[in-house]
Amino acid sequence: MAEPRTPTGVLREEHQLILRVLDVLQALLEKGEAGEWDLDAMRECVEFFRLFADACHHGKEEDLLFPELEARGIPREGGPIAVMLFEHKQGRGFVARMAKALEDAGGGGVEPLNRLDHAARSYLELLRAHINKEDNVLFNMADQMVDRPGCELLCGQYDVVCARHFEGRTKEHLEILAGNLLGRYGHP
Ligand SMILES: [Fe+2]
Repeated sequence: MAEPRTPTGVLREEHQLILRVLDVLQALLEKGEAGEWDLDAMRECVEFFRLFADACHHGKEEDLLFPELEARGIPREGGPIAVMLFEHKQGRGFVARMAKALEDAGGGGVEPLNRLDHAARSYLELLRAHINKEDNVLFNMADQMVDRPGCELLCGQYDVVCARHFEGRTKEHLEILAGNLLGRYGHP
């Protein structure tokens, strides 16, 4: 029989895929440093971070898990939820800067590549630390706080979000996009 779902199970699983694509991003930055930029693969990473990590994943945290935790007594202001929301916003900013630098890189020159490198390294550092905090602090609190009926309701709502299209892409499409990147640049 399948294990009962937890309030954070699907989110923790998504973190693992996001971390693997962050490793791809790091490999792409190392190639770039050696003068071998793969801008198409960088664009695919940006698409994955924008639609999977932000719209699909952060969307479930911000719209479903965090309000559930607030309802159970964790204040929105001045605590871990405020920190997580702030970091989501910072991450969005870095991804937007990466997208703009990639657009500008089409015109040639080293300046957009430097901007791309800087934004991507900032995003890497931010998101790895952010996921570590969620997995080891906030999500442990959530697993303690949300009871079985609350968890079943939340998981049903997660399923609804996961079934959406994100700018025309399903979650499955985005997982395939990640799989292709991992096939080319991921660790075995
Ligand atoms: Fe997360």
